[in-house]
Amino acid sequence: MKTIEDLGDLSGKTVLVRSDLNVPLDGTTITDDGRVRAAVPTIAALLASGAKVVVAAHLGRPKGAPEAKYSLAPVAVRLGELLGVPVHLATDTVGDSAKATVAALADGEVAMLENIRFDPRETSKDAAERGALADDLAGLADAYVSDGFGVVHRKQASVYDIALKLPAAVGSLVLKEVESLRRATENPERPYVVVLGGSKVSDKLGVIENLIGKADRLLIGGGMVYTFLAAQGHSVGNSLLEADQVETVKGYLTLAQEKGVEIVLPTDIIAADSFAADAAYAIVSADAIPDGKIGLDIGPESQALFASKILDAKTIVWNGPMGVFEFAAFAGGTRAVAQALVDSEGFSIVGGGDSAAAVRLLGFDESRFGHISTGGGASLEYLEGKTLPGIAVLDS
Ligand code: 3PG
Repeated sequence: MKTIEDLGDLSGKTVLVRSDLNVPLDGTTITDDGRVRAAVPTIAALLASGAKVVVAAHLGRPKGAPEAKYSLAPVAVRLGELLGVPVHLATDTVGDSAKATVAALADGEVAMLENIRFDPRETSKDAAERGALADDLAGLADAYVSDGFGVVHRKQASVYDIALKLPAAVGSLVLKEVESLRRATENPERPYVVVLGGSKVSDKLGVIENLIGKADRLLIGGGMVYTFLAAQGHSVGNSLLEADQVETVKGYLTLAQEKGVEIVLPTDIIAADSFAADAAYAIVSADAIPDGKIGLDIGPESQALFASKILDAKTIVWNGPMGVFEFAAFAGGTRAVAQALVDSEGFSIVGGGDSAAAVRLLGFDESRFGHISTGGGASLEYLEGKTLPGIAVLDS
């Protein structure tokens, strides 16, 4: 993959950077600015080399037309604060405002296009439509840098097609993400432990299938664990259950046994009366969650068990919280896993927006982890062994 250095002298040139600035917002307040901070090094390096930078990014999933609640305005302000230079936000994507904003840039200044998904061509399945938007984007710049790791699994105009239209290079964030994920997937140092959580097992089927046979241990928690417990024949009360996945999960349990992969499930569960921060709860055995109760976290015995299975690992990948960490009473499992990653001497990767946000929300020092990925779906697809279009196009 070409890096920014391969683009030659960028002084006075205009560089279009695709970043992933898809941050959680409460109204117009950014509740976790991790992705904005992660976007800074590449943009700062380009500015330092004398380039004018145009940032393209998306926020949420607007339906191909402008919607005020998906405006990148709060993100532009935050990026400007972090860079220490004003970020001029265009009021459209590739229209008159974008053209004028880019034309008015002085060396060392930054422009941001409005949410690129306001243009329906960005996410079009039609290559010609995407290509037409990529042409418009290419008209704004001399070179393209792909630095939005969280979207490299999307074949979209500002991620994929644009790289075919301009001299293209990978940014330092995507490079770091790919190098870290390679380290965890190609000849990982063993024991190789993967911790999976999050709400839906159906989101993680490909990953589980691919990792059985690669990882030494799979630790399962979060909402998805109840489908595993049901597959073992246990009652799960009112806990999250994907009944249509029970047979698939049974197959995974058998396959893991055949391949000698250890699947570690919780032995106790924190079961609540309702899904609420202040719900009454009790610690119950994982094989007998009472009727009417909802499992919202793994219990203390399981927390110790999971920590013991992580501590001796040489490579650890963690994707998805162990419980409803946003509610203090149900954050213990997620905290215990994060702490075990920190305490382990192995190389750890935290992937997935939720686990990364949990690490920050629970007050962990991010530098204690090997790598905190900015990509949720992208890191999962990488772990599934899929080709990521936004990476493949840079290799071509
Ligand atoms: C993410 O939040 O995972 C990325 O920004 C990709 O967003 P998308 O799933 O809407 O494509």
